[in-house]
Amino acid sequence: MVNVQCSMKKMKVLVATEKPFSKVAVDGIKAVTDAAGYELVLLEKYTEKSQLLDAVKDADAMIIRSDKVDGEVLDAAKQLKIVVRAGAGYDNIDLAAATAHNVVAMNTPGQNANSVAELVFGLLVFGIRNFFNGTSGTELKGKKLGILAFGNVGRNVARIAKGFGMDIAAYDAFCPAEVIEAAGVKAAKSQDELFETCDIVSLHIPATPETKQSINYDLVGKMKKGGILVNTARKEVIDEPGLIKLMQEREDLKYLTDIKPDADAEFAKFEGRYFATPKKMGAQTAEANVNAGIAAANQIVGFLEKGITKFQVNK
Ligand code: 3PG
Repeated sequence: MVNVQCSMKKMKVLVATEKPFSKVAVDGIKAVTDAAGYELVLLEKYTEKSQLLDAVKDADAMIIRSDKVDGEVLDAAKQLKIVVRAGAGYDNIDLAAATAHNVVAMNTPGQNANSVAELVFGLLVFGIRNFFNGTSGTELKGKKLGILAFGNVGRNVARIAKGFGMDIAAYDAFCPAEVIEAAGVKAAKSQDELFETCDIVSLHIPATPETKQSINYDLVGKMKKGGILVNTARKEVIDEPGLIKLMQEREDLKYLTDIKPDADAEFAKFEGRYFATPKKMGAQTAEANVNAGIAAANQIVGFLEKGITKFQVNK
């Protein structure tokens, strides 16, 4: 059980963001921590792990984004009681190490989902119009979109796709077909079926031992001629050598992502068929920063003051 008793010392909340929040989000976080009587410390755009190790030394709570919190960080964070990943995916936190250090780990599910979903369509319009190179592209209307995983982002993608007049299908190993159908989306029976039947597949799966490198040569190879794969999930889910081999063999396929692959230079050779944003951009809107950042701050206050553990992801 984590000790959440308050002492006379001010609680210190560290915002450690290699990719900073917008100012309006930081102001919102500060308003929450000020109201609780906590001290807020910012470590933004840090370039060395040593800076993080130094900054966490006396932090009671920490808000992060894709920043890595591993055993070494937790060893250095002697006072830490809670770390909140302001966002959905928490594969950047060593959960077992957090539990071993008596640190509660949380995420803020759904808070940046619309932002990520809107970026999917930004990438798609750019991709399907041939990267705005002046040639005639095609339209999203009438195309079949496959959504892999029907969580918060997948559902927002489906909502927006309806406005484009797309034919929408989804597959989620953990979400019943009835729930998908109730959202007005066709439920594919399998991941294979989704890839076989859709013109475009958008990935919204987390990076887990089961999903890592699961988007591979065979699976993407099932896509129809002219297929587009969009990845705003995690680079780890892609079998990069497999996708490179496939794109070499099939000049009709496009890969669009906001997470630079490790093999970016190899992919970059597929001119006009590959695009990656320089930084992960899915959740990089003022609105998403405000939603996720303030939710994280509120979750910290709720935990430290009342022991609320909703959204805890480690046990
Ligand atoms: C998430 O998991 O919430 C998204 O991938 C956003 O990540 P970011 O906060 O690093 O932009």
